[in-house]
Order: sequence, then structure tokens, then C-alpha cells
Amino acid sequence: MAPEKPKSAIETLQVDVKKYPPPAAFAAQANAKPEIYDQELEAFWDKEAKSRISWFKPYHKVLEWNLPYAKWFVGGELNICYNCVDRHVEAGKGAKVAYYWEGEGVGERKTITYSDLLKDVVKLTNGLRKLGVKKGTHCGIYIAMVPELPVLMLALARIGAPFTVVFAGFSPDSLADRFNDMEVEFVFTQNEGLRGGKRLPLKANVDEALKQVPTVKKMVVYKRTDGATAMQVGRDLWWHDVTAGQSDDPKSCPCESLDSEHMLYLLYTSGTTAKPKGIMHTTGGYLVGTATTHHYIFDIKPDDVYWCAADIGWVTGHSYIVYGPLANGCTGVIYEGTPNFPNAERWWDIIERYKVSILYTAPTAIRAHMKWGPQHAAKHDLKSLRLLGSVGEPINPEAWEWYHEHIGGRRCPIVDTWWQTETGMILITPLPGITTLKPGSATKPFPGLVVAVVNDKGEEVPLGGGGYLVLKSPWPAMLRGIYKAPERYVQTYWSRFPGMYFAGDGARMDKDGDLWLMGRVDDVMNVSGHRISTIEVESALVDHPKVAEAAVCGRADALTGQAIVAFVTLKSGFEATPEMLAELREHVGKKIGALAKPANIVFTPDLPKTRSGKIMRRLLRDVAENRPLGDTTTLADAAVVKEIATRAVTEATQHEV
Ligand code: WTA
Repeated sequence: MAPEKPKSAIETLQVDVKKYPPPAAFAAQANAKPEIYDQELEAFWDKEAKSRISWFKPYHKVLEWNLPYAKWFVGGELNICYNCVDRHVEAGKGAKVAYYWEGEGVGERKTITYSDLLKDVVKLTNGLRKLGVKKGTHCGIYIAMVPELPVLMLALARIGAPFTVVFAGFSPDSLADRFNDMEVEFVFTQNEGLRGGKRLPLKANVDEALKQVPTVKKMVVYKRTDGATAMQVGRDLWWHDVTAGQSDDPKSCPCESLDSEHMLYLLYTSGTTAKPKGIMHTTGGYLVGTATTHHYIFDIKPDDVYWCAADIGWVTGHSYIVYGPLANGCTGVIYEGTPNFPNAERWWDIIERYKVSILYTAPTAIRAHMKWGPQHAAKHDLKSLRLLGSVGEPINPEAWEWYHEHIGGRRCPIVDTWWQTETGMILITPLPGITTLKPGSATKPFPGLVVAVVNDKGEEVPLGGGGYLVLKSPWPAMLRGIYKAPERYVQTYWSRFPGMYFAGDGARMDKDGDLWLMGRVDDVMNVSGHRISTIEVESALVDHPKVAEAAVCGRADALTGQAIVAFVTLKSGFEATPEMLAELREHVGKKIGALAKPANIVFTPDLPKTRSGKIMRRLLRDVAENRPLGDTTTLADAAVVKEIATRAVTEATQHEV
């Protein structure tokens, strides 16, 4: 009997797609040449590691792969800060701009050269060493988009002190969870943040969080504003006092020579349980991976002005604002505020002012600009742009076309880059100058990487069919585990399909071998490019004293990609009023952060459950997206879902972008 043909795991719709071959002029000057795809994995990375990165001690082996644990550049020693800063100054490039920083307040600007950056890093490192920060000391960071954040991330890398940056939008409870998991001893924050014309009480949030974090010895506070700041005697120190009088001579604090596998940072990300995962990244492979991908994917040339408009608090900022670009000696832009402060021209003004040549942003931001209209960009000279990038979620073809036309003037290739906190570096992407682009497709695996789309049984689905995205070969910046949770690491990524990394995304590979990402297939939502687990939001809701039960799912949203819909059953005696709705949204904001507030809350006397008591999320998703209800025969009480479906989602959708 002939073996059965593997079946697709996910239904897909085949649509006609437009194709954009690389412009000849771009191809002629591109960093990546077609032969890049012909190289063998280890030989490719060996060449990149040797030519791109300075090692204090050479490695003796490129890769040691004991699935699911990889070691890259084994035996090698290096320092990331040395690679990102010192060596450029030593090479005579100190006068080159490392960052143009643009504060949210109009007219507030700083130009930071590589020499300036080195001095700032050295002064801070000396101050930190005096405080007792040593190789291996765990540090927590809650700082927004000010230059002090990369300076600190470099200083800690110089010392070899692992850290975790928590996005400044997270609440004190979220901060406490992360700091406790990592057992941080030193915490860094700023007194207030500035965003969207508002002041964010960052120091006050940390004060609140630290009531629950017994391991913290000292907190260092950067004074961003003149707002009154309560300092706890004996624990809190001002940043300017820590650096005052410290030498800025790099010889006063040499870079530690660190093992290639020394832990650089943890970054917490949502999984399918309420507890975020501390994703571990190390030194050598991470730096080689981020610098190499940055060079080829963004086609970085010495004169480029590159702007990654993400937040440093997410992995995109770690890899492609701080470490990758600085290792390449690139000039970057950091902007503190929101895209429409004080008006929707702000981004285009920044591009014109600094003559930005490469812009890397997220589909949700592009859709926001689409909503505000193309007239804002049209008022500015954007001819300096030569390449555009997208990250964080699938980009819908309409947004791609808008970006291409109104921002890129139809001359700039767009690199749609797929990757994750876990992957550390971009893994699926076009290479500009080589790849024929298709709006909505992230196209091809990065050279050396083997990916597949498989069905439930782990069989590759025929081209054109939908399934689960898996990675079948290791890559240098891959996560080294989940902090303190080795079993969860194996179970989350390596158990569903033995021998393959399960990314949690649905995908389809078309006849040309191009990949189309189709969103998460697990209980993780993607709201404005931010990962939030349904269970996290459910736990936050159920934590409210008036809530009996809650179920959460994502629904498609024109602006934020997905939006959070919560179905809530209140305890008896409490009523579903607009005040209650506001109270619950606030509560979720307090527990997790504003980014997790549900856009809609549907109050319901009961939730649809199977006879064994499992909430039927599939039905809730149908309700949330106004689809006809699927099969309800396994429901314990079929009337419930009809009741929910008839309750209109009356509240206006509320976005927290
Ligand atoms: C999604 C962000 C489609 C995906 C770097 C992934 C994308 C999750 C893309 C990781 C893309 C990211 N096309 N989907 N170009 N980029 N994603 O950890 O679902 O915040 O699993 O890392 O975002 O989000 P994370």
C-alpha cells in the first residue's frame, strides 16, 4: 500500500501575489551575494566569527550540538563591550556617531560618538565596580529609551554581570516576578520616563516592586526629569553620584575576558502558562549572530544611518539597536517617544533630520501611520531611505504596499524579518539585492538554517500546505535554555516534534520555497507585536476579588494585529456595569502592564465548557471574531455559547499601543 500523503495541519487560502525582484542597482552594491546560500553551516559561521568579531582567546570548535543544547565558538573568550565600543575607538573611528538620540520633547537632542560612548561606559563601569557589581552579579533594569540604557547594557557586558531589561510598560507586579526569578542584587531605573506627553513613574513602580524582592541591595536612579523623587537612604543612589569623579580612561577598567558561553542576559517572554520564561542568551554566538545578520539583512555600509524604531526593552532593541549595530560600528538613531508626539509627522521629521537610510519597524506602527494618512510623510524629504524592514508579526500585504509606496518611494526593498526572543537573531528574511520580495512573505531561511513546515505528526506538508514552523538546525544566537527551568525548555521547544525546534507559529511554504507566517498556534497572543499569553491575562482577571471566572482569546484587529477579548463571569452580587469594565481593565494593567488590558470584555453568566470542565476557547474565538459558531455538541451546556454570542460586544474597542 502506498504511504498516505502527509496532510496539512492548517487550512490556508492561496492568493495571487505580487512579486518585486531586487532592483539591479541595489543588487550591484549589496553586502549579500547569491553564493551566500551555498555555504556549509559551520564554515559560514566560522568565517563570520573570525572576520567580524575580535576574540581575546580563539575558539577551538565552532559548534558543539547536543540537542537541545548548543555551544558555539567553544573555548573562545571575548568581550561584547570591547567589540561594540573600544575596538572602534582604537581603530581611529572614535569621531563616528554611534547614536543620534532624540528626546520626546521637541528639540531635545544628543549626538553620541563612539568616543563619547566609550567614556560614558567606562565611567559607569568604574562606578559600578566600586558599588560591588562583579562578574556574575545579577542586575535588573527598568529604563526607557534614553542613552543611559545602552550605556548600562554595555557596562554590564564589560563586567560580565548578567542582567534583565524589563520593558518600561510593565507593572510593579510583573517587575517583581522577573527580578525575583533572576534574584537580582542591583536594580537600575530612571526617576520618570517621558512618553506620549505623559510622565511615567518608573522609580515609583520599582519602589512598589521591590517590596516583594528581598535580594536587591542597591538601586541606581538616572535623573531624567526634575520631578520629585523619593530616595530610600542606604538603598537608592543617583546615577550621577555613582559616576561622579570616575575615570573615563578605558585602561582604568579593562574589559573582562569572558567565555563564549558566559550569560549575557535573560529576557522574559510570555509562554503558554502564567509564568513568563527567562530566555537565556550568552556571549559569543549571540554577538556573531546579531552582527552578521545585521550586516547582510540591513546591507549596512559605513555611511548608513540606521533607525530601528523598536523599544530596547524587547529583544529587537537588544539585538538590533544595541549589540548587532554597535558591533558593526554603525550609526543609529534612538527616539524616546511615541510616533505621534506632538503630531504624526514626528518620525518623518526624524528621518529627514538625520538622513536615515534604513528604517526597521513593526507592522502595527505602519498601520497606525496608514490610519493617520500619507500626507504627514509627504511633507518630508525621505529620499535618504534606501531600505525598509518589518518585524513582530505577519505584515499584511496592504500595509506592505503602503510602506513601500509612501515611505520607501517605491525604490526601497522591504525586509520582512521573522524571529523571536528565543532565536536572538533574525532567522527568516529576504536578503536585499538577492531575494524577490512578495508582500506578506518573510521569504527564506537565513543562510545555513534549515526550516520546515510540518503537520501534527511532524511530517513535512506538501508545498503550499499549512502547518507548524520548525527549525531543524542550530544557529549561533539561539537561546541556551529557560532560566532555572530546564524541563520547561525541553517541553516547550523540543518535545512536540522530536529533534526539531517548535517555534509556536503556523506557516506555509509556497511553490518557490517562500515562507508565509500565519501567527501563533498556541495560547500566545500577539498584540502590537508584543507577546502576551491568554493565561497571564486570565490569571490577572481572576485575581480580581469580584471575578469568578475568566477566559481570554485574541481576535483579529486592523491596527494591533490581534486584540485581547476577555469573557468574564462575575461573582454573584456584582453587576456588569461600565465601571466594572473599567475596573477590570485597570486591574489587568496593574497586574501585568497597560499592554495587556483587554480591548473588549464580554460579561457572561457562564463560560462554554466541555463536559470535563475545559473552557472551549475555539468557540470563544469564533464569538470574538463574529464567525458562525463551530461544533457545539461537546458542550456541557450548549445554551451558554448562544447567550454569549447574542451579547453584543458593546464597549468601544480600546487600544493601548
Ligand atoms: C511573531 C520579536 C510574522 C511570531 C522579534 C513570533 C512574526 C513572535 C514576525 C516572536 C514576522 C515576529 N512575521 N510573525 N516577520 N516577526 N513574529 O519574541 O509569532 O517578541 O513567534 O520577538 O512574533 O515575538 P518576540
